[in-house]
Parts: sequence; structure tokens; C-alpha cells
Amino acid sequence: AKRTPLVAGNWKMNLTRAAAGALIGEMKPLLKDASCEVALCVPFTDLEAAGAAMAGSRIRLGAQNCHWAASGAFTGEISADMLRELGVAYVIIGHSERRQYFGESDQTVNARAKAALSAGLRVILCVGETLEQREAGEMEAVIRRQMAGALEGITGEQLREMVIAYEPVWAIGTGKTATAAQAGEVCGLIRSFLAEHYGAEAADGMRIQYGGSMNAKNAAELLAQKDIDGGLIGGASLKAPDFAAIVAAA
Ligand code: G3H
Repeated sequence: AKRTPLVAGNWKMNLTRAAAGALIGEMKPLLKDASCEVALCVPFTDLEAAGAAMAGSRIRLGAQNCHWAASGAFTGEISADMLRELGVAYVIIGHSERRQYFGESDQTVNARAKAALSAGLRVILCVGETLEQREAGEMEAVIRRQMAGALEGITGEQLREMVIAYEPVWAIGTGKTATAAQAGEVCGLIRSFLAEHYGAEAADGMRIQYGGSMNAKNAAELLAQKDIDGGLIGGASLKAPDFAAIVAAA
């Protein structure tokens, strides 16, 4: 247990400002004895209220994306510095929903990650294969391509500020969780990739999360896998008791 697990909620496009404050208020007492690190990645418009609601707790504030440029003519985008000033500690980069619906590529994921790291944010980098890719026997190649693309030009020192989240696309929001063995296998592959590129010691220190229909019932088994160091939780992070149960299992 040399790696401190990170359990991060990803609220996606849910909860308005008032509802965000209320849910965090409900979560705070339930999370006060957490032995792992806890973060909540909330919509941009909830950041300020969520940050205020988290005061006096160990919950870290997170966002769900940021742009690769420091500033400029990018209508509708948010820079890493803007997040930083709101007290954001973590930012999710490369979530599969962004890859699927918003044209995110390995190259834009890489650029966004670099911008976030330069601004002093920690990055939760998401990778994961689709069902079609898994069934075609391409899972490992896809994970390696996504990892290589996302980490292009990222130094070992920067890597330490990152967390990798393995999220098989077929398990996200489907209620269809990867088995603990499947999830553990891919997280192991990710660690091997990191060892090949950054050395065994760096790989050993990295936190690798599983995400995809993780819930209060299946969390303990997934988190017991030796290469799984926490979770990226979607649906279950919108319910205080469920999220608290996952945190307690980590
Ligand atoms: O970022 C979180 C993941 O996409 C998992 O979402 O727990 O609702 O399946 P889910």
C-alpha cells in the first residue's frame, strides 16, 4: 500500500450550482474518515460553489477538461489558469465522452495535458478501448496508442503529477462493469507501458484508476486488484452514500 488510492467523482454534465453545494454538504461528514485521497470533478459553473462547500474537508476540487492554450480566441473554452485560480487541483483529460462526441484526439489530449501540467494542475488522463476494439483483439494496441499519444513529450517529473484512469468505453454508464480480472489486467498493461517509457520506479509510484460502472457493491473487488489504485466514478458519485461506500472500500 505504498500508493495512496485516489477516488474521484466525475459528475459529468449534472447538478446546478445549488445542487452541487447541497450534495457536497451531504458528502462531507460521510467522507471525513477517508483513508484515500478524494476528489470531485464538477461542471465549470459549479467550481466556485463546490470549492466553497468543500472548505474544511479533505475533498479536492476537480474539473472535467481544459484548453491547451493559455488564453486567446477560443470561444466557449476554459484555460488551465482559469481553473487554477478557482482552487482546482485535478483536471480530467481525454475522457472517452470527449473523444467520442467532441473530436478529442490523442494529439489534443496531449496538448491539453501539457497545458494543465504547466499551470500546476494534476491530470487524470483517461484511456480505454471500445467494445468493438476489444472484440477485434485490439485492446492492448489501442491502450498503447492512447498512452503514447497522450504522453508525448511529457517528462518523468510531469508524469508524477498525473493519474491514469482506465475506462473501458463499454463499461461507462452501461451498468456493465469490467470484471476485476479484466480491469486489473489492463491496469497492469498500463503500468508496464509506464515502466518501459519512464522506468520501473516511476511506474511503481503511479496511480492507475479503474472507471466504468464502479459502484458500492463492486468497488471492493476492483480495488483489491494490485494494479488498481482507486476509481473514477460517474453515476455513483452523484449519490452521497454510494460515493462514500466506494471511498470506504479504497
Ligand atoms: O468518468 C467516469 C466514468 O466515465 C464512469 O462513469 O461510473 O457512470 O459508468 P460511470
